[in-house]
Amino acid sequence: MMNRVIKRVCSVYFSPTDTTKKVVSTISETLGNKLLLPVEVFDFTLPKGREKPLKFNENDIVVIGTPVYAGRVPNVLLKFLDTMEGEGAISIPVVVFGNRNYDEALFELCEICNKSGMKNISAGGFVGEHAFSYILGKGRPDKDDVDKIKKFALLISEKIEKTGDNFDNIVVDGGPVKKYYKPQDEFGNFIDIRKVKPKVNENCNNCKKCVYVCPMGSISIENVREYTGICIKCGACIKKCPKNARYYDDEGYLYHKMDLEKSFERRAEIKIFV
Ligand SMILES: Cc1cc2nc3c(=O)[nH]c(=O)nc-3n(C[C@H](O)[C@H](O)[C@H](O)COP(=O)(O)O)c2cc1C
Repeated sequence: MMNRVIKRVCSVYFSPTDTTKKVVSTISETLGNKLLLPVEVFDFTLPKGREKPLKFNENDIVVIGTPVYAGRVPNVLLKFLDTMEGEGAISIPVVVFGNRNYDEALFELCEICNKSGMKNISAGGFVGEHAFSYILGKGRPDKDDVDKIKKFALLISEKIEKTGDNFDNIVVDGGPVKKYYKPQDEFGNFIDIRKVKPKVNENCNNCKKCVYVCPMGSISIENVREYTGICIKCGACIKKCPKNARYYDDEGYLYHKMDLEKSFERRAEIKIFV
């Protein structure tokens, strides 16, 4: 029996290249339709979306997603996510990875939700086109993924209807959270891409799109070739540039991208925990 009133589905995501957005929105909208609930969007991709803490309560179903960066929840989000207040909401943590692996990220996001006071009814690791590449996980989430994502949402709605709030916190793989995935060169030396930033070529017509899509707010509006803050290599300024004017020329980065494209050609499958 359900002894709480669920009033809305919250569609919550950080998604520089829109694959996490697609996964989270598909789950939220399917759930909203099935349970006849309104869907409210909390997009915390841009700095403005992280000005105030996320706040939910026991009347909410919270579908929350982040991409997988280095096998983990992006570390630049941890401080912000630590301020999230869940207050008894039902949560559905999802991570989206670029056809390699989600490693510890799903476990980590589940822990973050629990720490904020939410209980995880279900969770999943989904695949999105890799931010570094146009080949790795090309076009994903694709039609096959979307069908599976909708089925996942329907299974959750059945579970909610059946158990109400009387369910156990879902157990996922990948824990405990210990380390970040580190790329290596052909000799086994670690490649450090933390300081790498995209360059700009002559195609740039100064439209400033890159300024507005940078989740770190790090591209100078006066001079789009200049960085005023950190670059997290999220791919937004590269993939969203209408002129294809931004690119990487760092040897370590390019080696890592090529190595990923070679090593992870197979189709990675999504993994759900219901
Ligand atoms: C810095 C960085 C690190 C990443 N690390 C991983 C990883 O460890 N495993 C993986 O499969 N994909 C990895 N990816 C790919 C992203 O998880 C993937 O592109 C995701 O779909 C991006 O989400 P978005 O479209 O919502 O921004 C990484 C991407 C970036 C930018």
